[in-house]
Amino acid sequence: MEPVVYAPDEVICNCKQVTLGDIDRALHNHATFADVEKEFSEVQKITSCSTGCGGCHHKIMQVISGIISG
Ligand code: FES
Repeated sequence: MEPVVYAPDEVICNCKQVTLGDIDRALHNHATFADVEKEFSEVQKITSCSTGCGGCHHKIMQVISGIISG
C-alpha cells in the first residue's frame, strides 16, 4: 500500500479541526510507539480527534502508522 502523505497543516479530522501537525505533536509528547491502536487512543485523548462523526478514524490510523514507522 502506498503511504499517504499529508501536509502538516492539513485537517485530518474535520469535526474537531485536528491537523496532521497536531497528531504529530501529540505522538511526540508521548515517547513509546507501542502499537497503532494504543497510540490512537493517546492521540485521541490529547487532540479529541475522531470523537465526532468518526469518519476520520481510518485517516488518523494511517497517519499514526506512517509516523510510527518513520
Ligand atoms: S472528521 Fe473526525 S470525528 Fe468527524
